[in-house]
Amino acid sequence: MQNSRSIATKILSQVIWQKRSLTDCLTKQLVNLTDSRERALAQELCYGVLRWLLRLQAITHQLLHKKLKDNDIQILLLIGLYQLIYLRTPPYAAIAATVEVTRILKKPKTTGLVNAILRNFQRNSEEILAIVDNNIEAKLSHPGWILEHLQADWPEQWEAIATANNVHPPMTLRLNTKLMARDKYIATLKELDIAANITPYTNYGITLTEPVDIRKLPGFAGKDAYVSVQDGAAQLAAEFLDVPEGARVLDACAAPGGKTAHLLECYNMKALLAIDNQASRVSLLHDTLQRLNLTAQTKCADVCQPDDWWNGKQFDRILLDVPCSASGVIRRHPDIKHLRQPEDIDNLVAQQALLLDTLWPLLAPGGKLLYVTCSVFAAENYLQIQDFLAKYSDANEVELTTECGHQQMYGRQILPDEFDGFYYACLSKH
Ligand SMILES: C[S@@+](CC[C@H](N)C(=O)[O-])C[C@H]1O[C@@H](n2cnc3c(N)ncnc32)[C@H](O)[C@@H]1O
Repeated sequence: MQNSRSIATKILSQVIWQKRSLTDCLTKQLVNLTDSRERALAQELCYGVLRWLLRLQAITHQLLHKKLKDNDIQILLLIGLYQLIYLRTPPYAAIAATVEVTRILKKPKTTGLVNAILRNFQRNSEEILAIVDNNIEAKLSHPGWILEHLQADWPEQWEAIATANNVHPPMTLRLNTKLMARDKYIATLKELDIAANITPYTNYGITLTEPVDIRKLPGFAGKDAYVSVQDGAAQLAAEFLDVPEGARVLDACAAPGGKTAHLLECYNMKALLAIDNQASRVSLLHDTLQRLNLTAQTKCADVCQPDDWWNGKQFDRILLDVPCSASGVIRRHPDIKHLRQPEDIDNLVAQQALLLDTLWPLLAPGGKLLYVTCSVFAAENYLQIQDFLAKYSDANEVELTTECGHQQMYGRQILPDEFDGFYYACLSKH
C-alpha cells in the first residue's frame, strides 16, 4: 500500500526527472493518501528534498561508487538523507521506513543497497558534510547561475538571500477588514489555539506562528468569506496602486486573482477588468472571486493584443503583475531552483518589456501603472524600469512610501528575509 514516502518518491520523480511543477504534482498525488499526517509528511519530504536538492545530491555522490541507474531509488536515497539531516525522526526509524519503500515500489533487490548507503551516511555524516559544504552551490543548495545573478545584483546580501530561500516561510493571511477587524480575528484564532500576530507594513495581514489547514480558519469558506492566504509582500500592491473612488482599473495579469480580490476588498471602483491569457488560470481567478463573493469583469485574453479585448477607453490605474523568474519566491516554491533555466531570464525580460510597451498607451494621462514582479533579479526589476523611463518622456516614477524593503535606483525591492521577494515600481503618466 502507498504511504507518505512512496508517494513523495513519485512526486519528486515527476518534478526532478520530468520537470513538472511541484504544486501540480502535489495536488494530483496527495489525494492518494487518506491519512492527514501521511499527507503532511509527504508534503514536508517533497518541499524539503527540493529545498536541499543540490546538497543532498552532492552527498549521494560521496556515498556512491558508481551512478545509480534506477531513478526512483536515487530519489528514495535523497528522501532518506533528508530525514537523517533535517527531520527529528529517530535515525533507525527513518532508515527502516525508507528501506520499506523499496518493497512498496516492488524493487526488493535494492533493499540492501538503500539500507547500506543510509547507514554509511549515518556513521560518517560529519566528514561527508564537511567535504560537501566546501562547494558553495551544494552548501547553499542553489545552482551556480542563480548564485551568480544574486552575487552580481546583491553583492552584500546574496548569501543571506540564498539562506532565506531555504527557510520554511510563514503562513500569512489577508483579511477583508471591511468585514472583520484584525484584532478581533486574532482573538478568535487564539480561542482556537492558533497563535498569530499582525503582519508588519500591511493593514490587512496576519502571520500565523505555525501553518494550519485552511479548512480550520474561520472566514475562509462559507457565504461571507473574508480570509485569504497571501504573503505580506503581495498585500502591498493594493495600497501602492492608490486607486481613487470611481476609477477604471485594469488588472492585466490577474490569475489566480489574489491581488484582484484585494483591490475589490479595498476600493470602490467604477470598473475592474481582470485579464489572464491562460484559461485554466482564469478559472482559478473565478474561484477566488466566487469564494470571497466579489465581482469583477474577467477575460481570457493576451493583453499584448488589445484589439481582441480593449474597448478604447483608457484606464486610470493599471496593475501589471508580470510573468517573471519567480526568483523571489523560491522559499515557497523550491522547485523553481530546479525548473528555471538561465536562458529563461532574457525571454522573460523581453516579455515584460512588451507588456509595458503595450499597456502604457492604455493608461489615461494622470493615471498610474504599478509594475510588479516576484523576482530579485535586477534585469527584471529596476533595470527594466530604467529602460522604460528612458523610452517614455511622459512617464515619471512615483516614490512608494513604505519602510518595507530596499529603495532601488527605480522602485522598491523586498527580499525574502522579510517577506516574499517582490519588486514594485509605480509609474505615473503626464
Ligand atoms: C505573476 S502571475 C499573476 C498573479 C496575480 N496577479 C495574483 O496576484 O494572483 C502572472 C500571470 O500573468 C499571466 N500572463 C502572462 N502573459 C500574459 C499575457 N500576455 N496576457 C495576459 N496574461 C498573461 C500568466 O498566465 C500568469 O497568470
